[in-house]
Amino acid sequence: MTNYTFGSDNHSPVHPRILQYMEKINTGAMKAYGYDPVTAEAEKLFKTIFGAETEVYFVFNGTGANILSIRSFLQPFQAVICADTAHINCDECGAPEFINGVKLLYLPNTNGKLTIDQIASKLHGRGDEHHNDPAIVSITQSTELGTLYTLKELKEITEFCHSKKLKVHMDGARISNAAVALGCTFKEMTTDVGIDVLSFGGTKNGLLMAEAVVFLNSGAPVWIKHLRKQNMQLMSKMRYIAGQFLPYLQEELWKENAQKANSMAQYLRKELIEAGVEITRNTDVNAVFCRIPKQIKAKILPLYFFYTWDEDADEVRLMCSFTTQEQEIDDFVTLIRETTT
Ligand SMILES: Cc1ncc(COP(=O)(O)O)c(C=O)c1O
Repeated sequence: MTNYTFGSDNHSPVHPRILQYMEKINTGAMKAYGYDPVTAEAEKLFKTIFGAETEVYFVFNGTGANILSIRSFLQPFQAVICADTAHINCDECGAPEFINGVKLLYLPNTNGKLTIDQIASKLHGRGDEHHNDPAIVSITQSTELGTLYTLKELKEITEFCHSKKLKVHMDGARISNAAVALGCTFKEMTTDVGIDVLSFGGTKNGLLMAEAVVFLNSGAPVWIKHLRKQNMQLMSKMRYIAGQFLPYLQEELWKENAQKANSMAQYLRKELIEAGVEITRNTDVNAVFCRIPKQIKAKILPLYFFYTWDEDADEVRLMCSFTTQEQEIDDFVTLIRETTT
């Protein structure tokens, strides 16, 4: 077994400070299902960070966060506009369709991002009972292709969407990497640009089964707690999920970890370029996309796990996390050099 993996930031362990904090709150009985003082403190903290109107609902995983976010604003006959590369379209086993009963209107892209013109192209025939009416646009920040929307782009999208009575959901599985790369606060990238609901990711950046659905500008639906329960995302021992966000946000562990992951990706990119490897996309955050021919890949994969992104184009995705080490990258690139020559 190898510890070396560029497979996903999900492959990283839980940050020790999080486990220590979980141990600290692992004392005595507390009310379950979120009615405990630890959860109350975490809820308050989200309001401090995202704005007074914020409502947060903690969940177990990113798919659950996305499903609950979407379900909060959609009727089963409505539709979600998203990029074809979106996690909700590619990697949730059809959960949005199966659980929410909605239709995904997915759009092609070259960089993981939606444009206003593309969104506009899906708005015909609204109100016609034969069509699934688009009601929400889902964007991912940072995107599945390791790119970023600028704050300006986000604002333009939300303004357009709101003018068309569309809500905007942000899949923020890697929101910390995005905030670090843009040098902005979470609030500036979400509440202030008009995002309605956010899937706030923690698991890829050092937490353990800790994600959150954060309602920012439109409030949460009256039945949100019922929806979370029905979607099987209500943890009974809630303090252990909600509590993780306290050191994570208060001590800026989110920033420390994301900075490490992003900077390791920059280092990896630089070393790959020097080794003559073709980089295929921008490296805005913690993912490096590049071309590794099949015969070389076959020799490297048993030692370093990573995912193939496009089999035909020999494109692979190399993901860094807060635990990626320079030495690991050096060894990986050395192996590529040796295998290539
Ligand atoms: C963009 C994005 N959204 C959401 C998720 C969350 O998925 P999970 O349900 O595995 O926590 C992931 C995980 O890979 C992701 O990459």
